Amino acid sequence: MIKEKFNLNDKVAIITGASKGIGEAMARGLAEFGATVVVSSRKQEAVDAVAAQFQSEGLKAIGVECHVAKAEHRAALVQKVMAEFGRIDILINNAGTNPYFGPIHKMPPELYQKTMDININAAMALSNLVYPIMKEQGGGNVIHVSSIESMHASKMMAAYNISKAALTMLGNNQAIEWGKYNIRVNTICPGYVRTKLSAALLENESAYLSLTNNVALGRPATPDEMAGLAVFLASDASSYMTGSTIVNDGGLLHAPLF
Ligand SMILES: NC(=O)c1ccc[n+]([C@@H]2O[C@H](COP(=O)([O-])OP(=O)(O)OC[C@H]3O[C@@H](n4cnc5c(N)ncnc54)[C@H](OP(=O)(O)O)[C@@H]3O)[C@@H](O)[C@H]2O)c1
Repeated sequence: MIKEKFNLNDKVAIITGASKGIGEAMARGLAEFGATVVVSSRKQEAVDAVAAQFQSEGLKAIGVECHVAKAEHRAALVQKVMAEFGRIDILINNAGTNPYFGPIHKMPPELYQKTMDININAAMALSNLVYPIMKEQGGGNVIHVSSIESMHASKMMAAYNISKAALTMLGNNQAIEWGKYNIRVNTICPGYVRTKLSAALLENESAYLSLTNNVALGRPATPDEMAGLAVFLASDASSYMTGSTIVNDGGLLHAPLF
């Protein structure tokens, strides 16, 4: 039955940047379909609170702190999950940052580096830690949370756009290299989603109007509108999909020029 293919029972999923926003919504979605979710972010207290809330609703969850740009945190995350559950089936590289708004020629090198370290380098490093585990298990599933910003240029946030374009290409290359081990890798490109990350943009009235005018559906998404796609990609319902980049943007990519 196709319905059964969405079942994530017995699957263990790590979601980075899951204390709030899109990551939390994806973690909830996976847990609702039966997965045991490892809710991860920089703050143990924050992920414990999300895991406790999930548990109170009968979902299977634990919280594990991990600043994705820190190698020792990444290693500890994977070790803890293996010690607790003995397997990792799904990794969602969701943690992301956008610390600089301004022209390229004035970008402070340390903010460029921070953007690359969190948005692309950490995703590659964490994927490399779960790869041998998934290979040994006979398969696995990696999902990268990129952005619609990976697909077009924007004034004022070049580092973010470059990092997200690189993340998409990382996924494509992983898919090619890891497909023979039944490890699927796909990338989600959200449009504008109401979260802390996008708050500055969406709370500015003129920016909000200009953004929503370009979105066919006329509004930003809520985080839970990203969760169904994550469940689909993490499950056997998408068993023939790898190396795909899926846009979930309310029609923003096709904003008409006139
Ligand atoms: N919102 C949008 O419109 C939008 C659009 C396209 C793509 N995205 C992408 O979607 C992803 C999630 O964004 P969001 O909008 O949901 O952001 P958000 O609401 O600000 O949440 C970000 C999450 O990441 C965690 N985090 C931040 N830095 C981290 C780090 N270095 N290591 C580990 N966790 C970290 C935060 O928790 P702690 O503070 O507890 O660490 C939080 O859980 C990002 O990759 C973003 O680029 C967002």
